[in-house]
Amino acid sequence: MKKTVARMLLLACILTMLVCESSSSAEYTDCTKCHVTKPYLKGKVLHPAVEMGCSVCHPDAHKKDTKNPLGLASDVPQLCFMCHDSKTFSDKVIHAPVAAGICTTCHSPHSSDNGKLLRSPVPKLCYTCHEKFDNKYVHAPVAAGMCLTCHTPHAGRNEALLLKPLKETCVQCHQQVLKEEHVIAGGHPLFLEHDPLRKGKEFTCISCHNPHASDSIRLFRYKVEGTNQSMLCNYCHKM
Ligand code: HEC
Ligand code: HEC
Ligand code: HEC
Ligand code: HEC
Ligand code: HEC
Ligand code: HEC
Ligand code: HEC
Ligand code: HEC
Ligand code: HEC
Repeated sequence: MKKTVARMLLLACILTMLVCESSSSAEYTDCTKCHVTKPYLKGKVLHPAVEMGCSVCHPDAHKKDTKNPLGLASDVPQLCFMCHDSKTFSDKVIHAPVAAGICTTCHSPHSSDNGKLLRSPVPKLCYTCHEKFDNKYVHAPVAAGMCLTCHTPHAGRNEALLLKPLKETCVQCHQQVLKEEHVIAGGHPLFLEHDPLRKGKEFTCISCHNPHASDSIRLFRYKVEGTNQSMLCNYCHKM
């Protein structure tokens, strides 16, 4: 008699465990049943990966003792590289947060109200880490927040993450500078191997101008009082 009770108890136990186990996994299969109303899924732009199902990235969600936090398939950025070519993010010059693999500081993995799943729009995004260019004179494209007309956010082969070499960066909008005499009769030399004031840098437009902003007229890189332009010349030429 005692034996039968014990057996029945054991059976009941096993049955309960089985029922609980199966009901719990079934309860969690339809992720959107509970998560769809969450703010991280309600942005205007939905990551196409989310449409493939939450489990591509969270195969172990709601399971105990998972390998990675949040039941993720792997850590970021390896998770992103399952679908995005990692080569795009490695080149001669790599943006520090990209090199550090912290993709989700700039991008939401789920959805966003901003294009490209950005956490905030450019240039606000950039200014979360970089000081705002708020000198007296701000270069028009910088004031307009067009950082990405000159820079790539990830990686590239040009210095300062420029989309094009410096020689081409400025003249794409200022072609007249190459056609007319610049600064002096006959035209000041514009592209040389050495900038006398910046060791290891070429002499280019930004040897005299700051690409972003300045407290001096004409975006001069060095301090010039009022409109006294010869002050600029004196930094390199003793006249
Ligand atoms: C029965 C409702 C329900 C279902 C179905 C469900 N979840 Fe959850 N999930 C929750 C609740 C509640 C939390 C805790 C609060 C929160 O973060 O929203 C949570 C938390 C999470 C978390 C964060 C876990 C943590 O450690 O903080 C992830 C990731 C997650 N769910 C993914 C999923 C995925 C993927 C699915 C589908 C396979 C799923 N959930 C199905 C209710 C559910
Ligand atoms: C492209 C991969 C990917 C997909 C697809 C994905 N997630 Fe996530 N999820 C992540 C990453 C990465 C994090 C960690 C967030 C971070 O690093 O800021 C995360 C975090 C979470 C969290 C924790 C709360 C938060 O916002 O940080 C929940 C809950 C969650 N995901 C639920 C879901 C659900 C539900 C789905 C499907 C509707 C889903 N995820 C689809 C990658 C993904
Ligand atoms: C399961 C596959 C998959 C994973 C994993 C994945 N993505 Fe995507 N992602 C896509 C697809 C598909 C697209 C749309 C096509 C494209 O742009 O390559 C996309 C597009 C994007 C876009 C552009 C969105 C737009 O509006 O143009 C960004 C940004 C992005 N993913 C970031 C990430 C980040 C960050 C991670 C890692 C946290 C990640 N992705 C992981 C599949 C994935
Ligand atoms: C410093 C912020 C920042 C970081 C960190 C970052 N991104 Fe981006 N990402 C951007 C911006 C800004 C764009 C929009 C580019 C554009 O509109 O031209 C973008 C665009 C994208 C796109 C859309 C395709 C494209 O190239 O325009 C994908 C996919 C993407 N990022 C994935 C990633 C992945 C994966 C990582 C981590 C290895 C990452 N990003 C890290 C800022 C960042
Ligand atoms: C999460 C923080 C973070 C965000 C967001 C961020 N940056 Fe950066 N960026 C850095 C760090 C760190 C460095 C390296 C140190 C430095 O030069 O200040 C860097 C360096 C740079 C450099 C110089 C690279 C070189 O090798 O000379 C440029 C250009 C740049 N960032 C542009 C941008 C632009 C444009 C955006 C917005 C799309 C942006 N950053 C957003 C952190 C960030
Ligand atoms: C007209 C092209 C142009 C635009 C627009 C532009 N930059 Fe730059 N940026 C440059 C050039 C050129 C350099 C290299 C400067 C140097 O070597 O002295 C640079 C360098 C940088 C650096 C490296 C540190 C420094 O100050 O030299 C950061 C950070 C940076 N830019 C951020 C930004 C952000 C953020 C925006 C948008 C608000 C932006 N840039 C818009 C051309 C541009
Ligand atoms: C996307 C287009 C664009 C690019 C690229 C660009 N500029 Fe400009 N720049 C402008 C506009 C627009 C103005 C304002 C109108 C004007 O004076 O032509 C301006 C004005 C200037 C001025 C005059 C500022 C003043 O206060 O009189 C200088 C100097 C200048 N840019 C230098 C540069 C340098 C150096 C570069 C390369 C690092 C560069 N620009 C790249 C669009 C651009
Ligand atoms: C040797 C220093 C020097 C170099 C190098 C230089 N500039 Fe200038 N730039 C000046 C001075 C000085 C002025 C003011 C001229 C005036 O107001 O008469 C000026 C004025 C300008 C202006 C506003 C007035 C105008 O002519 O439209 C622009 C735009 C400009 N430069 C762009 C460039 C670009 C683009 C390059 C590279 C191709 C460049 N500068 C190289 C010194 C320089
Ligand atoms: C950032 C440094 C720098 C600044 C600022 C600068 N120059 Fe120059 N300049 C040079 C270099 C480098 C050369 C070429 C090598 C040399 O002759 O010293 C040069 C050459 C010249 C030449 C000789 C041109 C030739 O064809 O041989 C004249 C004239 C000249 N600069 C005038 C000026 C005037 C005027 C200004 C101010 C509006 C000025 N420079 C500002 C660096 C500069």
